[in-house]
Amino acid sequence: FPTRRSSELILAPAKLNLYLDVLGSRADGFHELETLLVPVRIYDQLRWVDCPNPTAKPCLRIRNLLELGCTSTTSLATTSLATGSLATGADNLVCRATERLAQVAGMEPRGTFELTKRIPMQAGLGGGSSDAAAALLLANAAWGIGYSRRRLAELAAEVGSDVPFFLNSGAAICRGRGEMVGAVSALPRMHFVVVKPPANLSTAEVFAQWKQQRGAVTEERRSVASGLGTLVELLRSGALARAGQWMVNQLESAAAAISPWIDQLQHELAGQNFCGQLMTGSGSACFGLARSATQARRVARLLSGKDLG
Ligand code: C5P
Repeated sequence: FPTRRSSELILAPAKLNLYLDVLGSRADGFHELETLLVPVRIYDQLRWVDCPNPTAKPCLRIRNLLELGCTSTTSLATTSLATGSLATGADNLVCRATERLAQVAGMEPRGTFELTKRIPMQAGLGGGSSDAAAALLLANAAWGIGYSRRRLAELAAEVGSDVPFFLNSGAAICRGRGEMVGAVSALPRMHFVVVKPPANLSTAEVFAQWKQQRGAVTEERRSVASGLGTLVELLRSGALARAGQWMVNQLESAAAAISPWIDQLQHELAGQNFCGQLMTGSGSACFGLARSATQARRVARLLSGKDLG
């Protein structure tokens, strides 16, 4: 996957969950997961610019292309460019990741991080986590720290459950609360249409809702418990239409209980003759696995022009 890197600029990709099983809730408040993540070509961009004054405080500058209404990808159909609440200060994951790295390495953070946002927020696309991973990689190189990937992965897991996944550049099965990453090789090139509705969803709220609905969901879970291996094998063999039948997201019904958009998008995507359709992560974005690039482009154009409300 061509994540372009130089010492000063990183393209931070979004992700889709092609499979997400919630195995149970844990004593630490998180949930035990088994999930298949693939990076997709919708990118934020993070640039680091050094500051000539070594005593100047580091800063974060954000260019928000969502607010400007620009999505430069054909595969992203947004019904609205609502940005949600983008943290612009110390709460931004870029700041949290780089401050933690500097603290552990025993140095002062320096320079300006310029973050260009294109990945919709609170959408289950992993934008904030991807930015944080990009920040760790960038600062590790720019500040001459030279930590290994393994060391960075430990710090990444402190910043967020999905952050370690984005330190690598390919598909992975993630377990634990999401931070235990196992690379998955030999998946074919796939084409998706991603739809982000106006509604944003909070990951914490969706998990809390899942917990409430737990009885019903657990029954459903049993019937799909062994589906991940089958899904990976079918994807590897290129049998995308059959693979689509094995895509599941156990958070979907919880998200649908919070936002009517989830059922509405599922219904819309189900009418497009995809191999399969699913919500990604804890939502609110949903996607279709297309049969070809041509179909993906055609449906993305169609849905972009549609008022899905
Ligand atoms: O790790 P991250 O900061 O992305 O998680 C955000 C919130 O999502 C957590 O505070 C928790 O409420 C919920 N979560 C969870 N189980 C996971 C991952 C996230 O309950 N495996």
